[in-house]
Amino acid sequence: MRQRYFSGIQPTGELHIGNYLGAIKSWIELQDSFEGIFGIVDYHAITEPYKPEDMPKRVFDTALDYLAAGLDPNKSILLIQSFVPEHTEMAWLLSSVTPVSWVERVPTYKEKARQLKTQVNMGLLSYPVLMAADIVLYKSTIVPVGEDQLPHLELTREIVRSFNSKYRSKYGYKYGSKSGDIFPEPQAYLAGGSRIMSLTEPMKKMSKSLGAHNYIALADPPDVIRKKLAKAVTDIGPGGGEMSPGTKNLFQLMSLFSSKETCDHFKQLYDEGNIRYSDMKQKLADDIISDLGPIRDRRLALSLRPEYIRKVLIEGSNRAREIARQTLHEAKERMGLTYF
Ligand code: AMP
Ligand code: TRP
Repeated sequence: MRQRYFSGIQPTGELHIGNYLGAIKSWIELQDSFEGIFGIVDYHAITEPYKPEDMPKRVFDTALDYLAAGLDPNKSILLIQSFVPEHTEMAWLLSSVTPVSWVERVPTYKEKARQLKTQVNMGLLSYPVLMAADIVLYKSTIVPVGEDQLPHLELTREIVRSFNSKYRSKYGYKYGSKSGDIFPEPQAYLAGGSRIMSLTEPMKKMSKSLGAHNYIALADPPDVIRKKLAKAVTDIGPGGGEMSPGTKNLFQLMSLFSSKETCDHFKQLYDEGNIRYSDMKQKLADDIISDLGPIRDRRLALSLRPEYIRKVLIEGSNRAREIARQTLHEAKERMGLTYF
């Protein structure tokens, strides 16, 4: 039997090559060896300001990106988080074994709390507890994510340890775990592209929140990809010191999208001081365009089949509920919350 895991992405708009290289590509590579459960985590997305009327399209677009990138509903489960209420119920159980001081020290929370001051809501504080619930409901052993999610995953591991030690089974083997632990401690699974930087502000990670010019979307047409790369920040040429962050990012992208010969060729030009970044960007654009081409084509075809997308999400969410319901029941049993 394939081991299971959950991973997810917030429906905050179009997915970019950071999401693709940091997470989705691993999901697809692991599809035959693991049973992946991929969430469109709308309950996480509502912890920040958004327009209600935009949410349905954002969820639909994320599903399109998932399927177009190569997730196969016959091998994997796709779900909408709010369709599986066991996620929020499990989050409540986990919140009772999570000290507030643990969530208050999460870097993303601290940053948001600094920006939003008194506007910071309970959802933002308990965000990582809901994420832990997503993960433990399917007894995930690994979680493929980008590097920015490592603090969240470390917290999940702490919550798992806390729950396991508090509610250890008296019956030991009953749930197939020698120690009597209910949840395995999930390991982060990092891909080669686990931290892709912004094209225009290469000291920051590529992110939707920095605006469309700083990322390449999976759905961007070729001319847009060329334009965005042409504007990517580099430097005036190798100055003998360390490679600039923008140039480093382009070389990283090249190592992920281009052949080894291409990478070696431009690295040699760089080392000799003869590199022309416009040539490098053109070649990189060609290779990104040919890699993303099939995804864009599938996306376009799928966008004409909204009924099919709906069916995949509803069936996936129902299938996930069956698994989630069992785990939730086990957890409640451990906690003395089963009465009849
Ligand atoms: P988000 O868009 O924040 O919901 O992120 C979805 C997934 O993509 C998570 O696993 C992130 O760690 C990953 N991710 C987001 N931005 C990047 C990036 N710039 N580089 C690599 N992975 C990323
Ligand atoms: N917090 C993740 C992000 O912003 C999204 C997410 C929610 C997630 N639940 C998860 C990722 C569970 C992995 C596993 O990218």
